[in-house]
Amino acid sequence: MQDLFAEDNANFEIAPGAWLLKGYAAAQASDLLVLIEQIAEQSPFRQHMTPGGHRMSSAQTGCGAASWVSDRRGYRYDRLDPETGQPWPAMPQACAELACTAAQAAGYPDFIPDVCLLNQYTTGSRMGLHQDKDEQDFSAPIVSVSLGAEMTFLFGGPLRNDKPSRWKLEHGDVVVWGGPSRLNFHGVAPLGKRASHPLTGAVRYNLTFRQAL
Ligand code: SIN
Ligand code: FE2
Repeated sequence: MQDLFAEDNANFEIAPGAWLLKGYAAAQASDLLVLIEQIAEQSPFRQHMTPGGHRMSSAQTGCGAASWVSDRRGYRYDRLDPETGQPWPAMPQACAELACTAAQAAGYPDFIPDVCLLNQYTTGSRMGLHQDKDEQDFSAPIVSVSLGAEMTFLFGGPLRNDKPSRWKLEHGDVVVWGGPSRLNFHGVAPLGKRASHPLTGAVRYNLTFRQAL
């Protein structure tokens, strides 16, 4: 059957081993927003303090066996939510499956996520260029799902000074990076004043699945 949405569903190799899968999660996106709400009821979004003493501009929570946290002592994966003292909410099966199939689509057939970090961005929130390197093993890729208002993703190279390319991430888009680009610097530009989505208003969510432990 001809794919009438071929242009919406294009895949772009944004760096060696890194793929933007346009609209890959579009069909599940509204269900994912409901799951995010449920996770946040148990482990609320909060703005972490960086080791340098700054409050992050995005708010974060997580689900799975552990989640990424930051405080004055540093960055780490914690099996308990420091806010509640309880384990993080379980990773919903539908999320884990989506992350696995997206990784497969990008050429990473063995990905089984054990953690998922949720980021919530409001107008002006951003995330500076960084590497994801708090995981035990860098052989697994990172799978990132975007929901809600659109935001500009910055994908650089292995060196902080490598000039990043810019990609618009919209509701239902998925980015997978691994292999030669697993440790590439990446971030998001500030959420624009006019960015919005009918289901979330001026808010963007990002789910980052990792094999971290
Ligand atoms: C991250 O790098 O942890 C999040 C990136 C994003 O929000 O797209
Ligand atoms: Fe990251």
